[in-house]
Amino acid sequence: MKAFNVGLIGLGNVGSRVWHNLLTHKKLLAEKSGKIIEIKRVAVRSLQKGYNLGLPKEILTTDWQDIVNDPEIDAVVELIGGIDISYEIITSALKKGKDVVTANKALLANHGQQIANIAFEQKRRILFEASVAGGIPLLQAIQDGLVANRFLMIAGIVNGTCNYILTEMTNQKSPYAEALKKAKELGYAEANEKLDVSGEDSAHKAAILCALSYRFWPKVEEIYTAGIESVDPMDIQYAADLGYILKLLAIIKKHPHSKKVEIRVHPTLLKKDHILSSVSGAFNAVIVKGDIVGDQLFYGRGAGGDPTASAVLSDLVELARYPSDVYHSRIFFSSTESEYKIMPISEIISRYYVRLNVVDKPGVLASIAQILGRKNIGISSVVQPEVSNLSQGVPLIIMVHDAKEKDFTEACAEMSKLPFLKGNPVIYRVEDFHAQGE
Ligand code: HSE
Repeated sequence: MKAFNVGLIGLGNVGSRVWHNLLTHKKLLAEKSGKIIEIKRVAVRSLQKGYNLGLPKEILTTDWQDIVNDPEIDAVVELIGGIDISYEIITSALKKGKDVVTANKALLANHGQQIANIAFEQKRRILFEASVAGGIPLLQAIQDGLVANRFLMIAGIVNGTCNYILTEMTNQKSPYAEALKKAKELGYAEANEKLDVSGEDSAHKAAILCALSYRFWPKVEEIYTAGIESVDPMDIQYAADLGYILKLLAIIKKHPHSKKVEIRVHPTLLKKDHILSSVSGAFNAVIVKGDIVGDQLFYGRGAGGDPTASAVLSDLVELARYPSDVYHSRIFFSSTESEYKIMPISEIISRYYVRLNVVDKPGVLASIAQILGRKNIGISSVVQPEVSNLSQGVPLIIMVHDAKEKDFTEACAEMSKLPFLKGNPVIYRVEDFHAQGE
């Protein structure tokens, strides 16, 4: 059987599990790919790390160029994360005629188009199943299994760390900091956990999903992104009382009457009986709505060494199976320009939850209702839970029917100026997953 030689760059949480699982599944992978997939060299920042994991000394190097310049290596697996060096590694590898596998969503979200162009010119492939939703074969499904569809919506939980934190805050009533600490201990979070909790990691994944389904790379800074850092457990509780649960969602949704696509990441309220509401811990789940196939749900482990390694290995098997020169067209989008573009957040239509902290006196509710009424925004429910200490103000929770984001934010800005309001309104969008075709 022929060998398929791999150079692995990075031996962290994911890299070490790729090494381990490739060894333990070598025979199975050979049977399935028709080649013996062999890790020929491993680049690691500290050689000691390689020694500790039991890697043979002779395959270790601290210089990634040793891998990219090795003529016997067929494919390079980049698992160091970050942007600058990874970009150099991946583009050099492609230019040296190697296929590439990466889990690097930040890099793809920022430079996906350039990298795809280089891969296309070189007739090489870059595969990145592990970059979105960890072990779930979501990108393959979008590119192959659902290829006949126009996508109406792709929406879901794509960050395990945030889902773990929100689950802990909801079920255990843990404070945010404690839940974050546990998520880090379990190895779900990025090296810089700010990427997770700020929503940026989910935005990177949303950019990749958009590129695959609508064939354009949105600029990361144009993706509306809000994280979970300032989620107050109080709102999780009030929302629960109203029948909702809070999840950090990435939403990519085509506007029904135009070629505009909403791409947004934010904590979102879902009905408790919605299928995504039952997705807890570090699990990911993504709903894909195609115009032919209808709704599909993808669920599984979206973070952690082994699930991510499983996706990396599937990419390697695909590369081993099909030579790139005859198969480069499976690159993730065509070179033709997409007809779609991003829709500004101000134009989206959503339902909203707003919590106001107000002085408890007559006329307050009427003034707020007037502001919403002037903007033609309908109220669907109002709750003012009784509190013992009135000096801090009282919470007023209002849910509204579908409204244009611009109108709703203008109404909230007006409310903020009311003299009886203490602090700023706290707002969450409510998602009901309606998506229509043309
Ligand atoms: N930090 C990411 C997460 C890892 O928590 O989902 C997988 O991309």
